[in-house]
Amino acid sequence: MQRFLKQKLCSWRLFLLWTLLYIFFMSDAAAQVHLKGEVGGNLTFHCPDVKSKSIDFFYFQKNNSFINGYHLSKDIPNEAWSNTRMDDKDRTTVHMFNLKASHEGDYECYIKYSDGLVQTVMKLSVTANYSKPQTTQECHDGLSCVVHCVSHGGYPRIRITWDVLDSHAWKLENNSEVQDPDTLMVNSSSSASFNCSSGKLRSIRCCVGDSTSDHITVCKPEDQTGKQLYMNMLITATCIVLLSTFAALIYSIYKHINREQGKGRKQEAKEEWAGELLCLTVKPEDT
Ligand SMILES: *[C@@H]1O[C@H](CO)[C@@H](O)[C@H](O)[C@H]1NC(C)=O
Ligand SMILES: *[C@@H]1O[C@H](CO)[C@@H](O)[C@H](O)[C@H]1NC(C)=O
Ligand SMILES: *[C@@H]1O[C@H](CO)[C@@H](O)[C@H](O)[C@H]1NC(C)=O
Ligand SMILES: *[C@@H]1O[C@H](CO)[C@@H](O)[C@H](O)[C@H]1NC(C)=O
Ligand SMILES: *[C@@H]1O[C@H](CO)[C@@H](O)[C@H](O)[C@H]1NC(C)=O
Ligand SMILES: *[C@@H]1O[C@H](CO)[C@@H](O)[C@H](O)[C@H]1NC(C)=O
Repeated sequence: MQRFLKQKLCSWRLFLLWTLLYIFFMSDAAAQVHLKGEVGGNLTFHCPDVKSKSIDFFYFQKNNSFINGYHLSKDIPNEAWSNTRMDDKDRTTVHMFNLKASHEGDYECYIKYSDGLVQTVMKLSVTANYSKPQTTQECHDGLSCVVHCVSHGGYPRIRITWDVLDSHAWKLENNSEVQDPDTLMVNSSSSASFNCSSGKLRSIRCCVGDSTSDHITVCKPEDQTGKQLYMNMLITATCIVLLSTFAALIYSIYKHINREQGKGRKQEAKEEWAGELLCLTVKPEDT
């Protein structure tokens, strides 16, 4: 060490060493930023910079290919990704628009000051919410049921899981996650079979990430009787409506006929009635 120092290391060399060490530590230890975006969403983020220093260039890259940035004295290739924009006010803030699942990955921010280059790695993860899982149930002779659960359009790949209280009454049949090769979006589905020997199984649901299906009841024979009851009620209601319409029709026809026939007899009837009244009023005087 002393011998090394005796070699009269110039001060600028020491300075260079410190700068290299600084860059080394900046790029390896400190400078890693995690970003989260949503498919179809926008993202604004800031590459860490030293505000007091002037910047010679700022390159934003992915896998060593240029995405966007600027250079103080050079024209830089204008191959910026069309879904990125540099901020008008802040010199190292980047806006990304309409994120896709394929935008996920590591990006690099290169900031060159007069005294060194600083690299920051931006780790971008992109997610898309799975649709609310939908279930369909198929039962066989009331002995067993198979429930299918489907959820669409999520990212990344997530397996469907089941919430079943009675762990002996069910069996996972299969899981499948199908990814669209272009959009990378995933449809996740699963089937589970249920043993109905111990009756109804309540509060069953399937989940994919934070999305959960409604709770369902499996192995319920009253599902059928419920349907039957509903059908019966529907038939009864229809009958009542038809019958009362029919009765009203008959009644109005009857009234119409009566009115036609009654026109002639009206006078006759009135006199008869008047006669009866007369008798009634007369009667008390008799006694
Ligand atoms: C993303 O930005 C674009 C352009 O500014 C805007 O039209 C769009 O509504 C934004 N989308 C979301 C999800 O904020
Ligand atoms: C990075 O780029 C190299 C060459 O440009 C390519 O071979 C490699 O597959 C790319 N890696 C990723 C993760 O895109
Ligand atoms: C996705 O789910 C998260 C958490 O439930 C929620 O905060 C976010 O708004 C959802 N995104 C969309 C686009 O619905
Ligand atoms: C999963 O299992 C169910 C029931 O056994 C079956 O109907 C379905 O076709 C299977 N799906 C796949 C992707 O294998
Ligand atoms: C995912 O499901 C949607 C809706 O059913 C369908 O339109 C789409 O083609 C499916 N994608 C894949 C990769 O199977
Ligand atoms: C359902 O469970 C009963 C009793 O636990 C058992 O005897 C029967 O074999 C099971 N059925 C199926 C299809 O697993």
